[in-house]
Amino acid sequence: MPQQNHKQALQDPVFNILTEAADELGLDCYVIGGFVRDFLLKRGTPKDIDIVAVGSGIELAKVVATKLQGNPKISIFKNFGTAMIKHGKLELEFVGARKESYDHDSRKPSVEDGTLQEDQERRDFTINALALSLNQSNLGDLLDPFDGISDLKNKIIKTPLDPNITYSDDPLRMMRAIRFATQLDFSIELKSLQAITENKERINIVSKERIVDELNKIMLCPKPSIGLSLLHKTGLLEYILPELTALEGIEEVEGQRHKDNFWHTLEVVDNIAKSTEDLWLRWAALLHDIGKAPTKKFHKKIGWTFHGHEFVGSKMVYQLFKRLRMPLNEKMKFVQKLVLMSSRPIVLSEDFVTDSAVRRLVFDAGDFVDDLMTLCEADITTKNPKKQKQYKNNFTLVRQKIIEVEERDHIRNFQPPISGEEIMKTFSIQPSKEIGIIKAAIKEAILEGEIPNEYKAAKSYMLKKGMELGLQSKPGA
Ligand code: CTP
Repeated sequence: MPQQNHKQALQDPVFNILTEAADELGLDCYVIGGFVRDFLLKRGTPKDIDIVAVGSGIELAKVVATKLQGNPKISIFKNFGTAMIKHGKLELEFVGARKESYDHDSRKPSVEDGTLQEDQERRDFTINALALSLNQSNLGDLLDPFDGISDLKNKIIKTPLDPNITYSDDPLRMMRAIRFATQLDFSIELKSLQAITENKERINIVSKERIVDELNKIMLCPKPSIGLSLLHKTGLLEYILPELTALEGIEEVEGQRHKDNFWHTLEVVDNIAKSTEDLWLRWAALLHDIGKAPTKKFHKKIGWTFHGHEFVGSKMVYQLFKRLRMPLNEKMKFVQKLVLMSSRPIVLSEDFVTDSAVRRLVFDAGDFVDDLMTLCEADITTKNPKKQKQYKNNFTLVRQKIIEVEERDHIRNFQPPISGEEIMKTFSIQPSKEIGIIKAAIKEAILEGEIPNEYKAAKSYMLKKGMELGLQSKPGA
């Protein structure tokens, strides 16, 4: 194949320094991996630059650091034979060319020095094994022994070696293949897909953090269902998110069927990806129906039900986040709350939308109400155009009412207009259950729209309620 030259990829002044340092040390040196791939795909220039030297990457890094402005610090990882320099926004990663063989039970490679081609062979995909020379004598030459350039053109994910070796060496690559397919809208070569399917249980030796990292990248793609369905097809999803695969299938009893909640969920995730970049809102879409598998029942009279699936689902979110070592913080609480409330606006939209129902929704959802509406809109996957339109219109109406009610009643982050203290003073009473009863009654009256969310109205209501409970107000109250 004629050698191509891509000097124009090397415009950042840092490459001059790399060339100078490599030539001084007499090392062959290349930029490799994502930087080259993304340059050729015109995806912009990545912040990570992977440099491979035929010889010691660490020695090269040391010389480069002395030539860079501000003498940046080098982080050296001796065990891996790698070094890293932060230079402005760039992260330069240095490694010596190596042939690796992996331990069967871990992702830790044992490393031996090797040639550039041996190094390229041990990389994950042909499109990630493309290297550009950084030495002055052949600056910008493309070294592509596995014809990655054709795979880039044909949009194919392929491994340089037999895929069984590549994936078994480092099973995280199974997730990476699917992630790249989703991000770049590439296909995975059939042989590779089969190898992933065969090696799927080796995902168990990959840390949960790395799995989730790849999963999150898939979730942040414009069409996450590409990756999710590949994870499903290869059997990986069963290991990662069994709660989701449990939703697959349509059962029929006495001629009554329910929808396939797995494929429905994937549609919901794609829908929501059109409206938000928020990872956690996308996760809420992914998990909104997980309670349906354990709650599914068939009743002779009413057919299929999933009673309480929102509550059960929100409890499952905690278990799932814990298992996958995801953050058990406010992000998880957000996902739980959205799962818990995921049917509320739907019930509203199927019925006549009353102000009080909207006030209750806003009261319960608080600051999450807009995200909840976004989730519910994404949840409309009916193929019946008439119903589709009707639900959308109703949600538009709910959104309008939320704004109106909010302007008038300030229900979001509701603060009781009358404090317990004031109730005690007014009726000269000690802390007691009557205070709770009066406070709850005021809140209910506001949510029902009997009184506005204002101090004066709430005070008269308090006096009335107190009298009903047989309390005496202080004169002048
Ligand atoms: N690599 C590999 N196997 C892995 C991870 C990485 O062979 N499990 C190689 C690939 O050649 C890859 C390079 O190391 O291109 C750099 O890896 P990384 O920075 O993780 O990925 P990029 O390809 O740069 O892409 P992205 O930044 O999108 O993850």
